[in-house]
Amino acid sequence: MLRIAVLVSGGGTNLQALIDSSEKEGLGGGEIAAVVSSRKDAYALKRAEAAGIKGYVLSGKGLTTDEYGSRLCELLENEVKPELVVLAGFLKVLSAGFCKKYENRIINIHPSLIPSFCGDGMYGLKVHEAALAKGVRVSGATVHFVDAVTDGGPIILQKAVEVHEGDTPEVLQKRIMDEAEHILLPRAVRLFCKGALSVKDGRVFIDENKAEE
Ligand code: GRF
Repeated sequence: MLRIAVLVSGGGTNLQALIDSSEKEGLGGGEIAAVVSSRKDAYALKRAEAAGIKGYVLSGKGLTTDEYGSRLCELLENEVKPELVVLAGFLKVLSAGFCKKYENRIINIHPSLIPSFCGDGMYGLKVHEAALAKGVRVSGATVHFVDAVTDGGPIILQKAVEVHEGDTPEVLQKRIMDEAEHILLPRAVRLFCKGALSVKDGRVFIDENKAEE
């Protein structure tokens, strides 16, 4: 089994989607080996515990981005030994060193169609507030590999979701989670675990034969 570390900071509905998917159709030969939270009170840790997955807390209090990256590397190398790192609502910025070490092995989910409404400071409800302020008719979600540029790495999958008249940021967030995020993230993890993803010149290629196996 290919070992997956899932990094979280909050409610963990994307983690739950991965857990559910792994129980139903499997993760393409991957298993969630551990969950690491940047906050000790994250509900995602309870979801991990309920699923029998080992949880760790690594708070960033008083640490620089580089120091946090080093601690995270140590924790993962000593305790988890993951082949894939999934960011599922993880709110810490990862150091350039960490991104380099796990190049093309870190997957993030972002709740918009990148390159719209992404980058530094664009997280949580802020993304949906910006989309509504712009008056877009569709938004959606993007799963991508992580590099040192916030939300800048190669795109793996995207899914569009309609914006409705009268949507609030909360309503749009929920629709995007239900219709896009919770479907795309397990799908991308499955593709990775099956060895169906490759990156060339900053673009992701999907090997359809491997994807269907
Ligand atoms: C999701 O919208 C995700 O795309 C974003 O943060 C949110 C986390 O939600 N990066 P959850 O913790 O998975 O419920």
